[in-house]
Amino acid sequence: TPALGALRIRPRGALGIDRRTGRIIGVAAEPAAGVAAAALVGGWTGSHVDDSDVEVIDLGADQFLMPGLIDTHTHAPQYTFLGLGHDLPLMDWLEKYTFKHESQFRDAELARTVYADVVRRVVRAGCTMAAYYGTIHLDACCVLAETIRAAGQRAYVGKVCMDANSPAYYSESTDESLQATEAFVHAVLAGHSAADASLLVRPIITPRFVPSCSDRCLRGLGELARAHELPVQSHLCENPAEIAFAKACFPGAASYSAIYHAAGLFGPRTIMAHCVHMSDDDIRLVRECGVGVSHCPNSNFSLSSGVADVRRLIDHGIPVGLGTDVGGGYAPSILDAMRMAAAASRAIVAARRDSAQPAGTPLDAGELLFLATQGGARVMGMQDHIGTLDPGKLFDALVVDLAAPGSPVPPPSATPAVLEHQRDGRHEQAWALRAEQFVFLADDRNIARVYVGGKLIHAL
Ligand code: GUN
Ligand code: FE
Repeated sequence: TPALGALRIRPRGALGIDRRTGRIIGVAAEPAAGVAAAALVGGWTGSHVDDSDVEVIDLGADQFLMPGLIDTHTHAPQYTFLGLGHDLPLMDWLEKYTFKHESQFRDAELARTVYADVVRRVVRAGCTMAAYYGTIHLDACCVLAETIRAAGQRAYVGKVCMDANSPAYYSESTDESLQATEAFVHAVLAGHSAADASLLVRPIITPRFVPSCSDRCLRGLGELARAHELPVQSHLCENPAEIAFAKACFPGAASYSAIYHAAGLFGPRTIMAHCVHMSDDDIRLVRECGVGVSHCPNSNFSLSSGVADVRRLIDHGIPVGLGTDVGGGYAPSILDAMRMAAAASRAIVAARRDSAQPAGTPLDAGELLFLATQGGARVMGMQDHIGTLDPGKLFDALVVDLAAPGSPVPPPSATPAVLEHQRDGRHEQAWALRAEQFVFLADDRNIARVYVGGKLIHAL
């Protein structure tokens, strides 16, 4: 998806990867029949290449290559109560389920077992890069970062900060919060620069949300983000009760966004999740600061938070990606996030039909694929490195197998429209329909291989 609304399909493409750098060295849209792989690679590199220097991987007739899925917002510890508590609204859900479960990660051994399982699951779902929240515990967050690195996934990992309005059994002092965050940053970077995009796992500054943090904590975190050039993640305008709470904590603030902004936490490396109930002032600040939005439709439906108007954000020029927000959302897959985003946008269009506002159009499959890949890359500040399969980018990609055993995607023989295009040689049109079926029907069984930085990290 080179742009929102553009779906680029190459029915007979070839793509070269340099194993040493993990980057794409060239793409041939339509290589001439019979041309040797070594000749293609020689053309891309401008030097002579022997057959023995090149490993060729041929994809089958029902397989295709696509950019890896990007989860711009998920909570690793919340996999421990997946699917529970969705009858509650956000603030009650946090108190009754979330804080209790997260507090158990004071035990780093629990983190070791749970996080190994979480990361395996996220990778298996085709996610090549995720922005993870851990808990408030330094040790468990270091375990999470190590686990992700060992799995070969690309990620931002945040130590959650909570020094205000939090239960005694799950909170920290302001100094503890800032010191542990700084220690975490140093532990994860281990002497590297946060600006080094080839680093697989990098720290992200993570105030839980405004109600959980004092003014001094937020400002201290803003200072850390600036000093180390780090990304920032938090929650924004998710639920009306949450917004009222945030404003009550900072009575002078013009908007929820203004609180993060005043603390130095708003910038082009900032990811704000949800953004369901955005005032004009919120939209203005988010746009002016280059903040990216993580659209988490499963969570927004599951916690009855509301329906985010993603078109409105996009039309304002705000970068938007998708997030699973496990466990506010119950599904740990960006494929699900695409479907839920489709449902959310249709709900908005349907609700507007009888209003004075223009109804607009729902997101289509190509737009959903954009949000899941390049949209996510932009939100992560990684658009120069991942998100499409263009030369120069890191090879973060999936091999999708539509004919995998048990595949929920029907074969072309069951879809006459696909068969007809295939029979008449209209392969792009045939693949466009199959891509649409992939978006709405596929699951882990179709994610045959997952590559990050040119390395195979999962295969069925
Ligand atoms: N706001 C503050 N913490 C959380 C969380 O864990 N999940 C969601 N969805 N919203 C939050
Ligand atoms: Fe969240």
